[in-house]
Amino acid sequence: MPSIRPRRSALYVPGSSPRALAKAPSLGADVVILDLEDAVAPAEKDAARARAVETVAAFRQAGSPVEIVVRANGLGTPWIEADLAAIAAARPDALLLPKISRAEDLARVRALLAPDAALPLWAMIETPLAVLDPLSIATARDERLPLEMLVLGLNDLARETGTRQVPGRAPMLPWLMTALAAARAAGIGILDGVFNDIADEAGFAAECRQGRDCGFDGKTVIHPRQVDGANAAFAPSAEEIARATRIAGVFDLAENAGKGVVMVDGRMVERLHADMAQRLLRLAEAIAARG
Ligand code: COA
Ligand code: MG
Repeated sequence: MPSIRPRRSALYVPGSSPRALAKAPSLGADVVILDLEDAVAPAEKDAARARAVETVAAFRQAGSPVEIVVRANGLGTPWIEADLAAIAAARPDALLLPKISRAEDLARVRALLAPDAALPLWAMIETPLAVLDPLSIATARDERLPLEMLVLGLNDLARETGTRQVPGRAPMLPWLMTALAAARAAGIGILDGVFNDIADEAGFAAECRQGRDCGFDGKTVIHPRQVDGANAAFAPSAEEIARATRIAGVFDLAENAGKGVVMVDGRMVERLHADMAQRLLRLAEAIAARG
C-alpha cells in the first residue's frame, strides 16, 4: 500500500519576512510554501530568494517533517531564471510555479531548469486559460520534473475574471471542480485557495468544510491562525475513522467472501467503499504519525 502524505494545510510565508520564516516550521502546517512571488515587493526579490534558500537548508538540518516548497516568480518576470537556479540547487520538496496557463508554460519552465535539476513541480491554477483546460496542464508529464500538485490561486483568478469571491463561492465552483477532476484524472493532488479575511474564523471554517467536501487534499492558508482549522477540517474525524474501521475489512469476513455488497450500520457498502475506508485509515495513520 502506498503511504499518503498529509497536506491538510499549506502555509504561505513571505520570503521577505525573517520573523515569519523563523516561525514557519513550528506552526503545525503540513506544508510551508516560501513565497518569492506575490507576497514579496520587487525591491526585496533578491534578499527573499537568498533567505528562502537558507530556510530550506535550515529545515533540512533540523530534520523537519514539514514539507517545504518554494514559490518562484512567474515566467516573463525578470526574476524567473535566478529563482529557478537557486531553488533547483536548494532542493526543497517541490517548486511551486505561479500562473501556469497551459502545458507549454510547464515545458518552458522545464527547459529553463538545469539539465541535472530533479524535483517535483507544483502548478498554480489561477488564470482563465488554466481553469478552461486544467487537464492539459495536469497531464503534461516529465519523469525528472514531475507535476505533483495543482494549487488554486483564487485572488489572481478573481482579478483576471472579474468574478467576486462571495461566501459559498458559487461563481467559482465550476472552475474549482474542473481543476479537481483534472488533478484526479492525472492521478495528482490538489489544494484549495486561500481565505483572505483572517479575522473571520467562522467563514474560514465553512470554506474549509466546503473544500473538503469538494474533494481537495487541503487548503492553502496565509496566517498561523488558520493552520489548526485547516488541519481539523481535512483530517478524518474520530467518527469517520470508527466507521471506516468497521467497513475496511468487511469483505474479508468469511460470510462476505463472495459478496459485492453488504450492509454496515444500516447503509449499503460496496467493495469500492471498503477501498475508500482503507484509504481514509491510511491518511488517518499518516496524520497520527505527525503527532
Ligand atoms: N507565516 C508565518 N508567520 C506568520 C505569518 C505567516 N504567513 N503571518 C503572520 N505570521 C507571524 C507574524 O510574523 C507575527 O509574529 P511576530 O510578531 O513574531 O512577527 C505573528 O504571526 C502574528 O502576525 P500578525 O500581526 O497577526 O500578522 P501580520 O500583520 O504580521 O501579517 C499578513 C499579516 C497577511 C501580512 C501575513 O500573515 C502574511 O504575510 N501572510 C502571508 C501572505 C502571503 O504569503 N501571500 C501570498 C500567497 S496568497
Ligand atoms: Mg498570485
